[in-house]
Amino acid sequence: MTVPATRGTDGRPAERRRRTDPRPGVVRIAAVGDFHCGEEDVGKYREQFARVNDDADVLLLAGDLTRRGTPPEIKVVLGELADVRIPILAVLGNHDHESGRVEEAKALLRSREGLHLLDDEPFELNEHVGIAGVKGFMGGFGRWTLTAFGEADTKAFVGTTIEEAQRLEFALRRLATPVRVVLLHYSPTLDTVIGEPETIHAFLGNDRLAEPIDRFGASVVFHGHAHHGTFRGKTAGGVPVFNVSLSLVRQEGVGEMYYVYEVAVPEDAPREAPATMEPAPATSGAPESA
Ligand SMILES: [Fe+2]
Ligand SMILES: [Fe+2]
Repeated sequence: MTVPATRGTDGRPAERRRRTDPRPGVVRIAAVGDFHCGEEDVGKYREQFARVNDDADVLLLAGDLTRRGTPPEIKVVLGELADVRIPILAVLGNHDHESGRVEEAKALLRSREGLHLLDDEPFELNEHVGIAGVKGFMGGFGRWTLTAFGEADTKAFVGTTIEEAQRLEFALRRLATPVRVVLLHYSPTLDTVIGEPETIHAFLGNDRLAEPIDRFGASVVFHGHAHHGTFRGKTAGGVPVFNVSLSLVRQEGVGEMYYVYEVAVPEDAPREAPATMEPAPATSGAPESA
């Protein structure tokens, strides 16, 4: 079963927010992506990230933590997160892959106690709330989604998109928690990329990612990548989706460094037995294209 999420919060600047203890039956999720740390950004976000200890129960990082994903940039990110004491869950973004040193970047991130890469495995925050995440990939939305037809290069490109959707599906299957939260870098819906030039919408996400989100009844999705998109939207199945790119969070006035969303967790919500079978075949993909 799934539990409906409550509405989002955090309309106030962080410094005006009172410290609040977690309310029974509510988990507070802070989420942000696309802060793009460079080597010169030491100390730029440290104080703002430190406030998350009071504001939330878990911090989600939606990728593009860096500009090029170099080890020195990852070390800057870890410095900015040095005062965060709540669990940090992360996926990487396309920028974090740019230098070709992604395995070094992941190793550095894994070495930080309390930071968990969702690409490795999903994470159960407690008995009730689990988080699944992958980077995702591009490909477009609706009837204009690129399909695996024609050249081998096109098939490989679309294959990457389908593989990411399958990896998300497998991660969601593994969660036994009644509340499932999804973290991505790329968008699973056109809704939250609107505002970017229409000619690049197809490079900002793919709605194949929404199929497992809807089928497993996720409570909420957070993603980044579309810096100038739309803050809130939903999947075709009605799951709330938030574009938490830092620039958009600030532009919307819903947070200085992250957006905080409260998800309701009824105490009597039963856990489900996680599936252990291999992921199902490709979730979508028409056989041909124009
Ligand atoms: Fe970005
Ligand atoms: Fe990105």
